[in-house]
Amino acid sequence: MTSNPRVVFAERPAYGELPAVGKHLIFDSSPTIDLDNVPLNGGFLTKTLILSPEPAMRERMRDPSSVSYTTTFVVGAPLIGFGIVVVLRSEKDDVKAGEYMYGMTPWEAYTVQPYVEGRVEFKSEEWAPETFDMDSLALRVVPSLKDAGLPLTTHASILGTPGLTAFVGFEGLVEAKAGSTIFVSSGASGVGSMVIQLAKLKGMKVIASAGSDAKVEYMRSLGADFPFNYKKQSYESALAQHGPINVFWDNVGGEVLDAALVALVPRSRAIICGVIAIDNAPPTERYRLKNTDLILKKRLELRGFIVPDLIPQFIGRFVVEVPMLVAQGKLRSVECVTEGIENAPQALIDTLKGREAPGKPVVVVAKE
Ligand SMILES: NC(=O)c1ccc[n+]([C@@H]2O[C@H](COP(=O)([O-])OP(=O)(O)OC[C@H]3O[C@@H](n4cnc5c(N)ncnc54)[C@H](OP(=O)(O)O)[C@@H]3O)[C@@H](O)[C@H]2O)c1
Repeated sequence: MTSNPRVVFAERPAYGELPAVGKHLIFDSSPTIDLDNVPLNGGFLTKTLILSPEPAMRERMRDPSSVSYTTTFVVGAPLIGFGIVVVLRSEKDDVKAGEYMYGMTPWEAYTVQPYVEGRVEFKSEEWAPETFDMDSLALRVVPSLKDAGLPLTTHASILGTPGLTAFVGFEGLVEAKAGSTIFVSSGASGVGSMVIQLAKLKGMKVIASAGSDAKVEYMRSLGADFPFNYKKQSYESALAQHGPINVFWDNVGGEVLDAALVALVPRSRAIICGVIAIDNAPPTERYRLKNTDLILKKRLELRGFIVPDLIPQFIGRFVVEVPMLVAQGKLRSVECVTEGIENAPQALIDTLKGREAPGKPVVVVAKE
């Protein structure tokens, strides 16, 4: 028998509460698995290599009765999130032992991935608008993953959901023009760092905010023209200094959106990608926008999106263009690595709180 440790979702945090290790998130080292003989029932057995702690996982801890764009975790079961796995055994025709896969997987060392009637495990190169459905957020085979010569972590970062979110949102909603100005909040995040680079490739001027000096330097290294630390300089003063702005890409929400409403030029657009600053706050304690009159006076557009809205339109280009731009050195990413599944609960909490070090958080569970 082989040890099969997991991270269990033990209790829902209260509204506004961050999850705590040992209470809401429990590392359980007791399960074991017989890798050679565990029944697959038509599915396949995977070994987890990389897990990706992501802000949306806090949303999936919420009470199932509240309105949301995503499903909730099951209390008592392992957390589920994006990850990279390798197939050890398979009874499914379209999945072979030795293949690498990316998508939603439980936070455990080994998983029997169930057979799902009718589901085709897409090869990522075959993704095209007509083949996409929500099942594509499930694991898919990535034929090029091992051969690309990139660290596996890159595939959970710029080549994974954060990169995909930035790409589809940028291509679908930004209407980039050379010389125009975009402001990106949380510019050192997985999503934000990609938006900065896409904007620079289009010749835009980029203002970007983040919460540490190390992140400011990271954003500068990606090409941001005016990166600033919002803990040292207010959003208002940075935007007054470097604005006005033609587009606002918001990963944060609350106060920064208020400041951006002032800096946006008439008939321009704020793209609402994330609300991490208010995600964890109960409604009564949330920052209240003061400048909403400007939405009318300047005819501003506030456009929220979630990644599946735009995937069908842009997934084909993402899987071709982004790996090529990464290989050419025109796009890059940094990952903030945590080693060991036993440290995954804290890595998720640090992701939700924000950490000093730049880069997309990833947990390396196993190297091979
Ligand atoms: N719309 C979609 O479909 C979609 C898909 C994926 C992600 N998202 C959203 O995109 C955003 C970035 O995601 P990611 O995966 O790239 O994140 P990430 O790499 O994990 O980075 C998250 C960053 O958010 C910042 N942050 C945390 N609390 C904050 C606060 N109270 N105020 C300001 N900044 C705070 C922190 O950076 P600082 O040190 O700079 O504060 C933190 O490092 C999140 O809001 C996420 O929910 C949306």
